[in-house]
Amino acid sequence: MAYGLLQGKRGIISGALNDSSIAWKIAQRAKEEGATFTLTNAPIAMRMGEIKKLAEECNAEIIPADATSNEDLEKLFTQSQEILGGKVDFVLHSIGMSPNIRKGRAYTDLNYEWFKQTLDISALSFHRMMQTAYKLDAINEWGSVVGLTYMAAQRTFPFYTDMAEAKAMLESIARSFGYHYGKYRKVRVNTVSQSPTQTTAGSGIGGFDKFFGYADAIAPLGNATADQCADYCITLFSDYTRMVTMQNLFHDGGFSMTGVSAEIMDLVNVK
Ligand SMILES: NC(=O)c1ccc[n+]([C@@H]2O[C@H](COP(=O)([O-])OP(=O)(O)OC[C@H]3O[C@@H](n4cnc5c(N)ncnc54)[C@H](O)[C@@H]3O)[C@@H](O)[C@H]2O)c1
Repeated sequence: MAYGLLQGKRGIISGALNDSSIAWKIAQRAKEEGATFTLTNAPIAMRMGEIKKLAEECNAEIIPADATSNEDLEKLFTQSQEILGGKVDFVLHSIGMSPNIRKGRAYTDLNYEWFKQTLDISALSFHRMMQTAYKLDAINEWGSVVGLTYMAAQRTFPFYTDMAEAKAMLESIARSFGYHYGKYRKVRVNTVSQSPTQTTAGSGIGGFDKFFGYADAIAPLGNATADQCADYCITLFSDYTRMVTMQNLFHDGGFSMTGVSAEIMDLVNVK
């Protein structure tokens, strides 16, 4: 059901790779709620072509941008304002990639050049996006910036390797930039810490399927789906959350606050 929560709002949505992507669902919900927006992804992801289907469905233009390139991001914010007819009201950062995870390197055997790429793509890009927008003054007053994160920023999940550091940095950037953008234009900046979700990035993590089941058995509400994450992000882009900023918001069915569940106790079976 749509409520017109984003009627008249303009935005930029990154990270929709295919119809499993969390950003894909957010774009569909944003459209339903009345927003107009541009879509962006790394030029290499464009070649896979699926994003074009989403663009047609949402009547949105695609602007390729590597989130590690200042030049590409400048183009992204400048062209988005031209296409949409003014400053934007919301920005979604839904970007993550670790070459160490992709190539199966253990946390105790990281390649540091790849580690730097993990941080650049998955965390610094959040700062780069906001710094670019700030310098171009591209976000309207009371705008909203959301980045997607995972709880490995707070607690150890061994298979998440260097992405844990990237997420800790991403969440820290939300707090720091949230201060500066709040003072400058009353723009809020938050991260949403989402349950394990079956997507290209999610399934790339070692042991994902087992961990997905584990998290689902712990969380009293079960794992949050990508569609539910989209609903939550829409509220953060809407005018109903204007005073929420610099927060890391758990969207995980209660996983983060549960010590153990009856289901897990039964599995362990200790007398
Ligand atoms: N899937 C999960 O279990 C889960 C859980 C919590 C948080 N997240 C986070 O959600 C976000 C979206 O991931 P997803 O699960 O939808 O997977 P996904 O693979 O669909 O999305 C990741 C996106 O990052 C993009 N990307 C990679 N390098 C880029 C670059 N240099 N420039 C621009 N874009 C680039 C990819 O093309 C892709 O669209 C990520 O930040 C991820 O860490 C995912």
